[in-house]
Amino acid sequence: MNNDVMKVLLSGEEIEKRVSEIAAEITEDYAGESVLMVGILRGAVVFFSELVKRVDLDLRFDFMVVSSYGSGTDSSGEIRIIKDLSQPIEGMNVIIVEDIIDTGYTLKNLKRLLLTRNPKSLKICSLLDKPSRRKVELEGDYIGFKVPNEFVVGYGLDYNEKYRNLPDICVLKPEIYS
Ligand code: IMP
Ligand code: MG
Repeated sequence: MNNDVMKVLLSGEEIEKRVSEIAAEITEDYAGESVLMVGILRGAVVFFSELVKRVDLDLRFDFMVVSSYGSGTDSSGEIRIIKDLSQPIEGMNVIIVEDIIDTGYTLKNLKRLLLTRNPKSLKICSLLDKPSRRKVELEGDYIGFKVPNEFVVGYGLDYNEKYRNLPDICVLKPEIYS
């Protein structure tokens, strides 16, 4: 699998240093409060698990499966809720934990949906942000790294469901994407 990698954009070590900083920020921002961390399956799993270990708060977990992409690298502009939250979020501090903000469609739609359920607060925490690809206005509240307009894999992110287990954020060789 490593033979498919063209370059490492962010090493696991670099990522985890930044994850610790974000966790410290969240811990400070929500001091004295409880928080529901909502991981978006499957891409956010690796980031989610590294993040929550470092947040020192009364935390609860939930997960959603949301789809905006088919296979490949293009967004459809619509989302489908494949697995919803398993609990109401009214009155709760909710943080959505996502792998990457690309066009912004997924999180824009998801945010709108969850706000109708009257949480106390709702924020977005994304490991990566690709601002040059944005098609709708949407900003993350906690962002790990801004990345250039390249399709990245690893640390949870996939290409056709592969490469999620790479320990670094990588760009694949061009022939793999074609
Ligand atoms: P958005 O709705 O366009 O913001 O897309 C967000 C979703 O697209 C993410 O949760 C990823 O699953 C996927 N995605 C966008 N860019 C990449 C990438 O560079 N690598 C892997 N997945 C990506
Ligand atoms: Mg994906």
